[in-house]
Amino acid sequence: MLNPLVDRLADYPFDRLRALLDGLAPPESMRQLILSVGEPRHPAPSIVADALAAHVADWGRYPPVDGTPEFRRAVAGWLRRRYSLPEGLVDPDQHVLPVAGTREALFLIAQVAVPLQKAGAQPVVLMPNPFYQVYFGAAVFAHAKPLFLPATSGTGFLPDLAAIDAATLARTALLYLCSPANPQGAVASLKLLKDAVSLARVHDFVLCVDECYADIWDWQPPPGALGACAALGGSLDNVVVFHSLSKRSSVPGLRSGFVAGDARIIAAFRRLRAFGGAVLPLPVVAASTALWEDDVHAETNRALYRSKIDLAERLIAERFDFYRPAGGFFLWLKVGDGEAAARALWAEAALRVLPGAYLSRNCADGSNPGGQYIRVALVDDVASTEDALRRLLNVL
Ligand SMILES: Cc1ncc(COP(=O)(O)O)c(C=O)c1O
Repeated sequence: MLNPLVDRLADYPFDRLRALLDGLAPPESMRQLILSVGEPRHPAPSIVADALAAHVADWGRYPPVDGTPEFRRAVAGWLRRRYSLPEGLVDPDQHVLPVAGTREALFLIAQVAVPLQKAGAQPVVLMPNPFYQVYFGAAVFAHAKPLFLPATSGTGFLPDLAAIDAATLARTALLYLCSPANPQGAVASLKLLKDAVSLARVHDFVLCVDECYADIWDWQPPPGALGACAALGGSLDNVVVFHSLSKRSSVPGLRSGFVAGDARIIAAFRRLRAFGGAVLPLPVVAASTALWEDDVHAETNRALYRSKIDLAERLIAERFDFYRPAGGFFLWLKVGDGEAAARALWAEAALRVLPGAYLSRNCADGSNPGGQYIRVALVDDVASTEDALRRLLNVL
């Protein structure tokens, strides 16, 4: 009765974690601290409540798929400021589309990016390994073959594009990149992004760059794929970027992001979304417009993450191959056996962390690039984070 592709989806990481920890009882005396989910818990900027209140009447209207001109202009303005793009590179009306969070968009884009065949064979969708699990589901449901590019300490935690063979590139319909990367916090250089853009054009595939942690960075703002397009002469061909307010503005519940890039891909995506995409309610569009227009709250947010990374660096120091992530808010700690560590942390310290294996796939040699790691999300307030890190060090 059901689509057999459903069975190809492994359980989502948080379901696997629930099963792993099932039956363990955390100490009752300890407050449970959840560091497994990348859900920002900093206070939402007051801009949100103000804008929602001012647009209460709009709950009574069906929202348009492409949001409002003000929203698209705010996005184009932010992209220009954030990536120092030339004036006019991003046309708000041709190159920008709102999405109800990037998870949905990263999944749905494969429906427009993957043809029935490529080079006479089943199309390939490339993704880093470890990776945000939605890329895999997107590839499967687009009837493509998912292929994993190792992103380990040996490759600077980013995929090595030069290692992809020509036959694979010929069949590639879509390449997902994530920078800053979840879970490792690595940032793709402008050179890597330019190489990816060039590869997409030579082999005529869609390059999807997940930049939803773009505004959470440590010492310098990560470059973006649209900046790479500008550096290559200004065409946006074959490229789409994904941005979210969930992390930048600490509003994961608002479900607000956008895609921007190649006008042909945006037009096709808009058409698909008119049939099956979740459309942003107009009060949410108004709040999002105000958030993309404001950089002050994003700087405050970033500073809070930075202070927690400082804290982690001070407390963890050299242990577990600790390094400061260049972007994002995860610690990627090499603990030996990630699943065993997650169980011990829950049972002994009421700390929930995610085993790295749940974010990665086995390589051809059977090794799992995340197996020895745990991912620790620094999403709570500073005091809770300090408490969590001290408990973690006690147990491990
Ligand atoms: C790498 C990455 N991409 C996309 C998303 C989706 O974020 P949202 O749907 O809230 O925009 C997340 C959320 O955790 C993420 O970690």
